[in-house]
Amino acid sequence: MSTDGEVVVSVRSVVAGYADEDVLHGVSLNVPSGKVVAVIGPNGSGKSTLLKAIYGLLHPRQGSVMFRDRSGATHELTGLRPHAVTRLGINFVPQLANVFPDLSVRENLEVGAFVHAGRFHEHLERVLLTFPALGTMLSARAATLSGGQRQMLGIARALISDPQVLILDEPSAGLAPSVVDTVFATIKSINASGVSILMVEQKARQCLSMSDYGYVLDMGENRIAGTGEQLLHDPEVIQLYLGNRGRLGEAVLRLRREFVT
Ligand SMILES: Nc1ncnc2c1ncn2[C@@H]1O[C@H](COP(=O)(O)OP(=O)(O)OP(=O)(O)O)[C@@H](O)[C@H]1O
Ligand SMILES: [Mg+2]
Repeated sequence: MSTDGEVVVSVRSVVAGYADEDVLHGVSLNVPSGKVVAVIGPNGSGKSTLLKAIYGLLHPRQGSVMFRDRSGATHELTGLRPHAVTRLGINFVPQLANVFPDLSVRENLEVGAFVHAGRFHEHLERVLLTFPALGTMLSARAATLSGGQRQMLGIARALISDPQVLILDEPSAGLAPSVVDTVFATIKSINASGVSILMVEQKARQCLSMSDYGYVLDMGENRIAGTGEQLLHDPEVIQLYLGNRGRLGEAVLRLRREFVT
């Protein structure tokens, strides 16, 4: 797929998995500078595995993940550990467990600011401009926050490192619809401030409509790619991933996962 703008993250033919089993069978993807890129696809298709492979939580067996930093230097990320990836300019908000529940809001942000030794306050002030509500609850334990507030803290914890690229795994998961709108609006405003976004979402329609580019992943392979707009109107995407059948299929899979396992 051709993407305008300079590419900041380039994933090429990545093969990765757990133990002996491959989950990704040669996945490729580009994140152009300053854009929002969405990854959608059925449960278990390897979306989270792809994000983990980019962020160094999982080391690909084959393929490459290149990152171009603000100075224009390129870095091969495969083999790096997450903290090293964060230092280079990429941060990650995982699907679950994206805050430390026993730490206060302020302590969570201090942990997130590890790359800015001694300059926590200036970065705290910057992040509180995006998340003013967190400023009123700095001493609250993260465990006492609502789901939406926790998600905001998870994003703020990543944003305080001042990343060039922010990677989010299902930021809307488990949130009430009105809170989902707020979270998506926040991600948009972070993007508007110049941060490139790579985001996995189950709320495919909502996510694609705010994305410049989208990728459909299925069974660990690239299935379809295009602009957000193209995917929203692609008959195959509509039938398999956005239509009623797609939604029902997802719901059945989710129920099975919750009640059978
Ligand atoms: N830690 C792990 N160890 C072993 N297998 C795993 C592990 N995590 C995920 N898998 C397997 O890898 C496959 C892809 O999982 P992954 O979490 O990447 O999918 P996903 O597309 O993010 O799904 P979802 O939409 O449910 O979040 C699944 O078959 C899953 O069971
Ligand atoms: Mg996932």
